[in-house]
Amino acid sequence: MNFRFRPSKLASIISVSLLLITAVLVYVFLKPSIFSRVPGNQTGLPYQNSALSTEERVTDLMSRMTSAEKIGQMALIEKNSVSDLNDIARYGLGALMSGGGGKPDDNMPEGWLRMVKNFQNYSRKTRLGIPLLYGVDANHGHSNIPGATIFPHFIGLGATKDPNLVRDIARATAEEVAATGINWVYSPDLDVVQDTRWGRTYETFGSDSSWVGILGQAYIDGLQFYDQTGLKIAATAKHYIGNGSTAWGSSTNKNFFIDQGNSKISEDELRKIHLEPFKQAVAANVKSVMVGLNEWNGEKVSTNKHLLTDILKQELGFKGFVVSDWYGVYEKEPDKYKALVKAINAGVDMVMLPFDYKFFSESMHQALAQGDISQARVDDAVRRILEVKFEIGLFDKPAADTSDLKTIGSKPHRELARKAVRESLVLLKNNHAVPISKTTPRILVSGSAADNIGQQSGGWTVEWQGIDGNWIPGTSILKGIRDMVSPNSKVEYDLKGNFSDQAGLADVGIAIVGETPYAEGWGDKKDLKLSAQDVAAISNLKKFSQKTIVIIISGRPLNIKEYAKDWDAVIAAWLPGSEGQGVADALFGDYPFTGFLPVSWEL
Ligand code: BGC
Repeated sequence: MNFRFRPSKLASIISVSLLLITAVLVYVFLKPSIFSRVPGNQTGLPYQNSALSTEERVTDLMSRMTSAEKIGQMALIEKNSVSDLNDIARYGLGALMSGGGGKPDDNMPEGWLRMVKNFQNYSRKTRLGIPLLYGVDANHGHSNIPGATIFPHFIGLGATKDPNLVRDIARATAEEVAATGINWVYSPDLDVVQDTRWGRTYETFGSDSSWVGILGQAYIDGLQFYDQTGLKIAATAKHYIGNGSTAWGSSTNKNFFIDQGNSKISEDELRKIHLEPFKQAVAANVKSVMVGLNEWNGEKVSTNKHLLTDILKQELGFKGFVVSDWYGVYEKEPDKYKALVKAINAGVDMVMLPFDYKFFSESMHQALAQGDISQARVDDAVRRILEVKFEIGLFDKPAADTSDLKTIGSKPHRELARKAVRESLVLLKNNHAVPISKTTPRILVSGSAADNIGQQSGGWTVEWQGIDGNWIPGTSILKGIRDMVSPNSKVEYDLKGNFSDQAGLADVGIAIVGETPYAEGWGDKKDLKLSAQDVAAISNLKKFSQKTIVIIISGRPLNIKEYAKDWDAVIAAWLPGSEGQGVADALFGDYPFTGFLPVSWEL
């Protein structure tokens, strides 16, 4: 028997038509991914072809993008605010981030790598497979992660005035960041601090514009490093512009005094003090610039077209993208739609929302439909963002691998951090008290910052506001001292300086005191003095020591005028980070004190 199916003529017509309709539908909907292959190009579509120029790739990709996909690229979301991971594809989100302390459940390097890879997998499910930028505040090393090398905060690096060292530190930081699959860092801070009561003083290289520029450029060169696979990390110059000049009492945040305040200065002054470092950053080809949360003469910088477009993009020729700061676009204006329209039209390309991307998406669609924002402005923003994504190889390179994680907290990086610590020390006063001999028979140590790696690391360490105690890998300053002295020397420690006088006066007393960690406006402080406990710890110690050396761990100069005359030596150690033994390196004379004051400090 012949079981072959013999279709009737009508059935043949129907099936041929169905086939044709299906083919047309497949072509219409899947065209970009299946049908438009470049002849002979095995990697697929033109924008996937790494042999083409960035410009050609971006042009090709943009020609395939819908309005919704373009809008998605302009959104930057804090990772805990993504309510459903499928929204990454649904909204075509351009970038995710961890704010200070925005850690994965498993807050170890493996956990970070796993988390970022997982987000990237969701972005690959988008129609065009555009990868995400993932941003972090690696402010002094990859400092969100316990186990990373924690370098001195920028104020200490400002004291080194050593661009080569700063470049090396940025490079080491970038390597640790890249190992966890992260490709974007919100650093360097190029604010030029004018009032050290500001809680962000320690995030800056100091008060001298030209040094901020020189060290900032070195930092960008190091962070945006090239290896055999090309460029890996995009840096962010922040906070554009005038943040360091905000006036005490002008903050728009009810919890703060100076941070997020108003910079009431002329354009000439703004340019003279604050623009120089950004010029250098643009010359160093920085990939993104973050707009500050401050105002300039009563207007938020994020809505000021003159500053963002006329000066930054046109006059300075900045080619990367402008990102707004945390909720910065909506901060002041009660009408969120209006605020968004103003910021995008002023020149913001990517919005650190960082929460409600649905509202953002709806508002942007509405703004385009009503002509409140032009298609050309959106295209310009998206082009800038995509260019960076191509330049850092997101479309081409394989994801980081667990084998890369060994760089995190590695010995060479810790050695580099130790070097930075000793180079950052500033000897404020010395009455023949330092260097100390390593064979000194008896040394007393006291003070709140003597044995506290959390305190010596400051804010932006594991948590936004920093941590307390010795639970991340590193060396406390006390341990550094103990490891440095000869086996016959006796180092005694008491937090409050309560020693026994039975053994007579010790040869040397070292008090290590200072500020407890803080970040941003939470550190705005009118009266920068030592705590009563630290003052007591120093005066107790003094009773039991022939010489008193005071080491100050702080993000800024403290007012020690009334006490310093009674001390034999005073050392500013800033916020040295995890490698506290760098302090002992200079204290015991293995290296000279070479640091300069990055901000003025009256004794
Ligand atoms: C800070 C920025 C930081 C951002 C993301 C903001 O509060 O002003 O400097 O990059 O948070 O964490």
